[in-house]
Amino acid sequence: MKGVILAGGHGTRLFPLTKATNKHLLPVGREPMLYHPIRQLVSAAIQEILVVTSSDHMGDVVRCLGSGAEFDCTLTYRVQETAGGIAHALKLARNFAGSDPICVLLGDNIFEYSIAPYVENFRSQSHGARVLLKEVGDPERYGVAALDEKQVIEIEEKPADPKSQFAVVGMYLYDAQIFEILDQVQPSDRGELEITSVNNAYIEAGALQYDICRGRWTDAGTFDSLTEANRILGSNHNRILPHA
Ligand code: DAU
Repeated sequence: MKGVILAGGHGTRLFPLTKATNKHLLPVGREPMLYHPIRQLVSAAIQEILVVTSSDHMGDVVRCLGSGAEFDCTLTYRVQETAGGIAHALKLARNFAGSDPICVLLGDNIFEYSIAPYVENFRSQSHGARVLLKEVGDPERYGVAALDEKQVIEIEEKPADPKSQFAVVGMYLYDAQIFEILDQVQPSDRGELEITSVNNAYIEAGALQYDICRGRWTDAGTFDSLTEANRILGSNHNRILPHA
């Protein structure tokens, strides 16, 4: 399995912190934010990793992360020219992924515990996709899963009237079919190619499974969530907790 970290976009909600640098290079705890998704993938034995970022700060991102040797992985880079959405950024992974399954992490998502068990569950899944859900108090900020007893039956992106408290967090596991699905995705009302459309396509094919995220999780895209990200990684000295 290969890893893909999506670190494009403009980080406008964190302005002026993001005036001169990329959101994903801001400090969280004692390290730049991007160290975390890299350490997470390596903790799940994924060592071939693609980092997608915008052209404005690609130089700084490469200077910060280098070849990946420091993290015991190999890094490849690609530029997303326009912030066309998460699914738009993911299309850039096609050649890198080849026919391998992929683990996609949003570069601003922070997990207290290792993602390794969810990756293991996907390794024993024959095909399809796997997402991670977390019960939150403010589901309207996220993709929200509607569930029956066993399955996710629909995901809505930032719904005004959420059908559950379960946010779909920024870790997605996909089989090699992902790139055919990405070719079919149409822009949303806000003009982006949404990862939620991709996940709904897997649901329609009866091929989406899920796990519930253990421990604390946050994104770090707003001032409040960046503070929470600092709380999570700061309290553990940036160490990712193993599952007991
Ligand atoms: O954090 C989890 C949430 O992330 C999910 O619940 C939502 O379904 C998903 O759409 C996303 O929502 P956000 O509105 O928080 O996404 P945001 O635009 O902040 O982008 C999150 C990361 O994705 C960002 O840190 C970098 C990457 N990204 C985003 C865009 C729009 C790219 O690489 N390229 C892009 O064009």
